[in-house]
Amino acid sequence: MKIGKIIAASLFVAGAVSFASAATAEVNFKRCVVCHGKSAEKVPPGGTIISATLSKDELKKTLKAYKNDKEHGGKMKATMQLQVKPFSEEDLDALADYIFTNFHIDAK
Ligand code: HEC
Repeated sequence: MKIGKIIAASLFVAGAVSFASAATAEVNFKRCVVCHGKSAEKVPPGGTIISATLSKDELKKTLKAYKNDKEHGGKMKATMQLQVKPFSEEDLDALADYIFTNFHIDAK
């Protein structure tokens, strides 16, 4: 009986954590809207790509590359390096999931 309660409690915590990260991504994405549009549907100023057209994997890779690889990106890469700086890799994965799940546009 006691063990059942512990398992139930830990399942509840695990569920709450994954909910929290989607909610955090929604909040974090508000920082991106000014340049990328509220549905990631705009070409950012000085950029060339509409984020909503990228696959989930491309979003994860490019966001982490702006964080970890100084050479990654186009002529405006310094802008994005600054944007991703406050976020952990988990935050960036959650942002990529959030953008893809809510806003993906099939470019074809
Ligand atoms: C100050 C404007 C600005 C803000 C705020 C901003 N970006 Fe960007 N973003 C850009 C620019 C400019 C580029 C093109 C950079 C380059 O030349 O490599 C870019 C590139 C990207 C790319 C690569 C593909 C593409 O769409 O061009 C992704 C993905 C991206 N941003 C996601 C985000 C996310 C997620 C946030 C919020 C955490 C964010 N950006 C905040 C301006 C911005």
